[in-house]
This record gives sequence, structure tokens and C-alpha cells, in this order.
Amino acid sequence: MASEKPIYKDESKDIEERVEDLLGRLTFEEKCKLCAGEGNNSPPAIERLDIPLFGMTDGPHGVSPYRSGVGPSGVKIPEDSEGASTYFPTGIQMASTWNPDLIEDFGAALAEETRAVGRSMQLGPAMNICRNPMNGRTFEYYSEDPLLSGKMGAAAVRGLQSKRIAPCVKHFVANNFESNRFKVNAVIDEQTLREIYLKGFEIVVKESDPWGVMSSYNKINGTYVSEHKRILREILKEEWGFSGMVVSDWGATKHTSGIKGLIEAGLDVEMGSRFMYNIDEMKRMKEAGEFPEEYFDDNIRRFLRTMLRVGNFDDPDSLPEGRINTEDHQLLSRKMAEEGMILLKNDNSLLPLNINKIKKIAIFGKHADIKFGRKKLGGGSSAVFPPYEITVREGLTNKCKGKIEIVEDAEEADVCIVCVGLEHSHDFKGGDHEGSDRLRYDLGILQPRLVNSVVKKNSNTIVVCINGSPFGMEKFADNVPAILEAWYGGMEIGNVVADILFGNVNPSGKLPVSWPKSKSDIHTALSLWDTIIPIKEVVYEEGIFIGYRYYDSKNVNPRFCFGYGLSYTDFEYSNLIVSATELHERGKLNISCMIKNTGEMDGAEIIQLYISDKNAGIKRPKKELKGFKKVFLKAGEEKKVEFELTSGDIAYFDINANDWLAREGSYDILVGASSRDIKFRNNFSYKM
Ligand code: BGC
Repeated sequence: MASEKPIYKDESKDIEERVEDLLGRLTFEEKCKLCAGEGNNSPPAIERLDIPLFGMTDGPHGVSPYRSGVGPSGVKIPEDSEGASTYFPTGIQMASTWNPDLIEDFGAALAEETRAVGRSMQLGPAMNICRNPMNGRTFEYYSEDPLLSGKMGAAAVRGLQSKRIAPCVKHFVANNFESNRFKVNAVIDEQTLREIYLKGFEIVVKESDPWGVMSSYNKINGTYVSEHKRILREILKEEWGFSGMVVSDWGATKHTSGIKGLIEAGLDVEMGSRFMYNIDEMKRMKEAGEFPEEYFDDNIRRFLRTMLRVGNFDDPDSLPEGRINTEDHQLLSRKMAEEGMILLKNDNSLLPLNINKIKKIAIFGKHADIKFGRKKLGGGSSAVFPPYEITVREGLTNKCKGKIEIVEDAEEADVCIVCVGLEHSHDFKGGDHEGSDRLRYDLGILQPRLVNSVVKKNSNTIVVCINGSPFGMEKFADNVPAILEAWYGGMEIGNVVADILFGNVNPSGKLPVSWPKSKSDIHTALSLWDTIIPIKEVVYEEGIFIGYRYYDSKNVNPRFCFGYGLSYTDFEYSNLIVSATELHERGKLNISCMIKNTGEMDGAEIIQLYISDKNAGIKRPKKELKGFKKVFLKAGEEKKVEFELTSGDIAYFDINANDWLAREGSYDILVGASSRDIKFRNNFSYKM
């Protein structure tokens, strides 16, 4: 007679029952083993109980090129998996799509790739707030706005988990610059922490119930996040109801006070190696009665729950299939780039170009030829090595084949395309790279000089920007008629740039960050010395006023504002209806308007809803994003767009009450095409 399956291996049983069963079988020593990494980006396997390795992989815009495959038992790793994973557009471009459904599809595809290399956890989404564009990791993150970040993060998590791969939402929290990232202390007041830096993570936890969160390197108000009991245990786990596991960033526990503080704070698994969770010391503490037993089991339980959620004890045939580098993933990468590129300028409708009228084009700038994904290091841990990458020159050459001649002389060409931008470099010029911040905001001397010399010879010059964070373009922006932001657009970037320039694709992305004119406008930029000599502390003096919240309050004009982006068609907004003039504590307001594509090309518009708390006696921004919808409209088509508003949407964090409160009084509703292109204003009053 076949022996009965233990409960934890029995797929028909409830997951919590399986967790308790497995927890009950573990010895103290086995529990100690499980709570830290021991090579392979995984805690050790425990053979006695058939607990396999729990492999983790970066993240966040493609699977890392690890050689050895480990993970759920029975999953085969393709021999050629190294250097063969889909390179998707990076975080800032994902957010530029303003399309959570698309990002959910991406999450599912990324999960398939993660499983194909035998891993259980994907180290993303990365969703730190883009406090300013000088942060070396801005390219990996979503936005300066917590609502947009939260919605994108929640979508990515839903996608990953739909294929039973654990996300590791990172870097929790306030890891907003890279200088001295392992040790720096971020000093942040409570209202700012809650409303800006925690808010996006709170949205993700409440909307998508993620199975993993990564604690960041930095300290907050003097305490490392990995041992910050209030942040991890009290806010994340208890207040928000997070049911997953907390994994430390790689080495983030190194400088902490040690075992007791980490366990009590709720640092469930220490990665990348066993720095603090020393097994002998844990045993000694237990014998001496110094071990925080009551917290330890809760920590281990969370890891076991995640193992069960990803299917580590289930029949491998019952798990979603691992698939890597498939054609549909490559097409998805292309679609994300299509929706996430942003048309920043298009004077006299120079774009789209007519393939039948143009005879010659010229392409300039080294960015036309760089393969950003395949370039060594690709920006740090997020590097992806795709099997191919179409550069802008290749994409344009493919498009023009047999129709347009590519020439070298700007004067001879009908149209010139100049590619400029940043790189994944660590150097003093400053680039989009983990571990260092940008020192320079503009592009230096050579790139603007190139643009200006080309446009002098040929006024039909289009600038294509390839970068992962805004940069100063004052030296050339006013001189050129058209600018397209392509970001680090993934492995299909060149095809997508060509499709947009020639009008096969109508651009529909909008900026998820403000684009300041110059470095002096960036009030939160670190000084040169902070980035060279290790800074110990950064005081977030600006409080809640970052990004558009700052530019609005100071009446500073950015070059391009938050939420901005052009299309080849026109949209008409009409008929704003607000369901009532009063909102009550448990009530809601329905807000709707009509949006019509009045041009000749199919396209998509991103409609944004902001709320302005007009009479606040307290610190409030002039407006805050409270909703957005991306709507696809055929030429001539009209649709109704609807939003819902509750008292939660107007609440602020009151430090005296230590809670979210909605103030009684009047508020403005702003509906628009960007944070500064408001089409309607209406108002309502809030009464408890
Ligand atoms: C990075 C994380 C990354 C981890 C593992 C760390 O240095 O900050 O984003 O997931 O390494 O590679």
C-alpha cells in the first residue's frame, strides 16, 4: 500500500494547513538553516523533508543570465538559458505606458521566463519613488507619483503571481538614491514617509497581496530598514496585512545589530549570504533563553507559505509552464515599447514621416548603434542579455529598405535623425547605473553640439532620446522641431522607433516623472561631494513636495510636466459630470467625461484625474493624482471615461492622530491630459 502523502505535500489541502504541517516537522536547526541564503541565490535545500532550493533571480525587466538552474523540483532548465532571455523596456518606460493591463501581461511573461530558468522568485518589481532624476536607478523605477507607482507595481505582481512565481517588491523603502547606499540614513518626517514613500508599496500590498518584499539597504531615521520593527512588522505586516515574506537586499543585514533585532523586526530571509543569522549563535541564544521564539515561527511560516504558493511541493506537471524568449514575449516587449515611448515635441507636424515622399535620411549619434541590453553590466543587477537587440539604426534601415536611401550627409538628406542620451555608465559623467548617482544632469558638450550642427544644416531634424532618466536639453531642445523619448526600450527598440517615426504606430506614452529644465531646478539633487565622499545622512527637507508637487508649489516650469505626451491625433474632452456636490465618509462620487478622437489616426489618450485641497490649513500639494485611464479610440470614435472617488482619496496622514484623515471642506476636481493641461475643473465638499 502506498504511504500517505504528508499534509504539506497534499495539493488538495488548504495552504495554511500545509504551512502548519510543514512548520511542525522542522527542527530548530532546520528553521535556522532556512532563514538565510547559502549560494545559488537561495537558502539551502533540506533533503530530509524534500524542501528544494528556492531560487531567486533579478529582475526587474527581464531574467538575469544565471548559468546554473535551481528551483522547483522537476523543472528542466534549458541548456542555452544563459544570454537568452527577453529584454523588456525598463521600469520608467513601463510606467510611461500608464497601462496596468499591459504591465500585468508583462508580469505573467516574466514569470514564465523565471520558471524556465528554474527559479521561484523574481526580484522585482522595483518601485522606489523617483525623488529626482539624478538617482542612478531611476531607469528601473516607475514614477515620482505613488499612485502611478503603486498601480504599476500591483499589476506586475498580479501577473507574476498568476503564473505562481513570487515577486519581491523592492526596495522597501526610501532607497531613493545610490550614493553610499549600503549605509546612508534617510531622515524623513512621518507624513512624507506615509504619503509619498510608503504609499506606493501600500497600494501594492492592499491590491495584489504580494508574496515577497525586499527590505532596502538604507536606514530610515537612524535604523536600518532590515531591523526596523515599526516599518517591517508593524506597518507592512500588521497594519497593511502583508502575508508574504521579507527578503533583505543582498548584504543589507551586514551592518545591523544582529539576530535578535532582525528576527523581531520581521526580516524573514537574509540574502545574498548568511551574514547575521549564524546557526551556532542562534542555538546558543535559544539555550540561554535569549532567542525571540515568538517572532521566529511567524518569520519561517511566511517563507514556507511562499514556497507553497509557488508550488515547490506540488506535482511539477500541475505548475504553469516555464517559457523563455518566445516570440510572444518578444512581441510583448515590442508592444510595451510602443506604448511607452513618448512624443515630446512635434512642431508643424514634422512627424509622422511619409515613407512614400522621403527619398533620403541620415542617422547620427552613437546611441543609434548601442545595444544597451547586451552591453556588459547593463546598469547593474538588472542587466539582461537578450539573444538579439535591434538598434535604432537597424530598425530604421529595415523600415527604409528598398524605399529610402540612408545617407551620411545632413544637407543631402530630406530628414535627419539624431540619437542622444545617457548610458549605463558609472563614470563621472554620470549614467543610469546601480550603485552610483548621476553627477551631471545635462549631456555635456559633444551631444548637444552634434544636434545643433545637424539641425543647422537641415531643419528637418528629429532627436531620438535613449536614456532611463530625464536630462538637461536646454542646449538644443528649442532648436529642433521634433523629439521622441524612446527610453531603454528593450530588445525591439529600433523597430519601434522606426514604426513611430513613420506613423505605423501612434505614440501614446506620457511622462511618469517631471522633466526639469536644469540641475538648479532639481531641489533634491545631492551635491557633488555627497556623491563622491560617502554621505552619512540625507534629510528629506522638501517633505511631500517632490516632482510635480514641488514644481506646482513653487510655480517653476519644468521643460515637460508630469503626465505630458503628444499623439499624432487630437482628442476632445467634453461633458464632465460629477454625480454629487457632496462626498460623505462612506459615500463615493462618480466622475465621468467624454473623450473623442477627432483626428484621422487611431490612437490612445491617457486621461488624468487630480484633486486639489484648496483650503487646507495643513501641508498639501496643489494637486495630487487620484486616477488615470488609458483609452484607445479609433479615428472619430468617442468613449465615456469614468472614475470613482471616495473619502480615502482625499485623506492625508495626520501625524497627531497617527492616522489617515479626510478634512471637511471644499475640494477641486481636475480632469486633464497632463498635470498642467487641465481640461475641466469642478468642485465638491466633503462632510463626514
Ligand atoms: C540590488 C537588488 C538586487 C540584488 C540581487 C542588490 O545589490 O540592490 O536590486 O535584486 O542586488 O542581485
